[in-house]
Amino acid sequence: MRGYDVVVVGGGVVGLSAAWRAVRGGLSVAVVDPDPGAGASHAAAGMLAPVSEVTYTEEPLLRLGLASLERWPSFRDELQEESGVDIDYRAEGTLEVAYGPDDMAYLEDLAAFEETLGLPVERLTGRECRKLEPMLSPSVRGGLLAAGDAWVNPRLVMRALLAAFERAGGTLVRDRVTELVVDGDEARGVRLASGEERTADRVVIAAGSWSASLAPGLPVRPVKGQILRLRGPKDFLSRCVRGKVHGSPAYLVPRGDGEITLGATVEELGFDDRVTAGGVYELLRDARELVPGITELELAETTVGFRPGTPDNLPLIGPAVARGVIAATGHHRGGVLLAPVTAEAVTAFLTGGDVPDAVRSCDPERGLR
Ligand code: GLY
Repeated sequence: MRGYDVVVVGGGVVGLSAAWRAVRGGLSVAVVDPDPGAGASHAAAGMLAPVSEVTYTEEPLLRLGLASLERWPSFRDELQEESGVDIDYRAEGTLEVAYGPDDMAYLEDLAAFEETLGLPVERLTGRECRKLEPMLSPSVRGGLLAAGDAWVNPRLVMRALLAAFERAGGTLVRDRVTELVVDGDEARGVRLASGEERTADRVVIAAGSWSASLAPGLPVRPVKGQILRLRGPKDFLSRCVRGKVHGSPAYLVPRGDGEITLGATVEELGFDDRVTAGGVYELLRDARELVPGITELELAETTVGFRPGTPDNLPLIGPAVARGVIAATGHHRGGVLLAPVTAEAVTAFLTGGDVPDAVRSCDPERGLR
């Protein structure tokens, strides 16, 4: 007798989204995590911004992000309805601004690239940017408005996912997975730190940066990010503001309760979980150039998270490692954005349904390493 149809290793935004969708698809599902939502999902800013985060060489990632952004409104509606939790979804877009002449040149290139892809962006002068966001510095030279971008509060999303998953009949096991149990070339379940085994027909690996410790064949590494939470008046900013200050990127994400999430460093330092003076200094220095008034706000929290990076920045979604194992990891900077399309794909892999086209580029066996 198998214990569950599916065991999901990892209760972050990706694992729980997939688990919730799979339970709703009629499968019996257990999620194993000692502290669900305490990993990268706890640090995340929650930007649903495929357009603003686009990089020239990453068109498959852009397509994946757009496919997921399109799914967010119905994902939100069902999640809020089934959990009773408001996830603070906002859709006023992203204003990407430039500080120096080099930053302005970057913005021009980005706008031209986005236009070739048919993406909706609006070029704005510095004055027009300040009209939209009066807290912006007089030094801001110009900007791009990505009106289609949205954002959520990832901590509320986690609260909602936990409630929706358990209400739908899912099982949460608060323990740590020490290893996959594999019989021949087929997964049979997982072993826990408590010594217990949980058996299942399928195992989904959604352990973020820790995925490679369970399945060494998965090329996932931790990419450290330091991120700050400031507290201020509710109308301080009305949309996400991103910017480059002499090439160095910063973003500010406003919440309904007056919190501003300010991020983020990108550091290749393994699992170094220290908040550093230099990291905090650089974030505040760059953000102050864009929005001088942030120095008046309360510094409410400093957090370190580990983005699960992959060699080509695309996630790993699909069969991998052994028969019966499905990877849903490596979402790097986009776990919150990519959760709906990943959840749909994982459910399709589990049930034999149609995998969204945009996920085809994420085959874990695509010859990385
Ligand atoms: N997606 C935002 C970050 O990784 O900092």
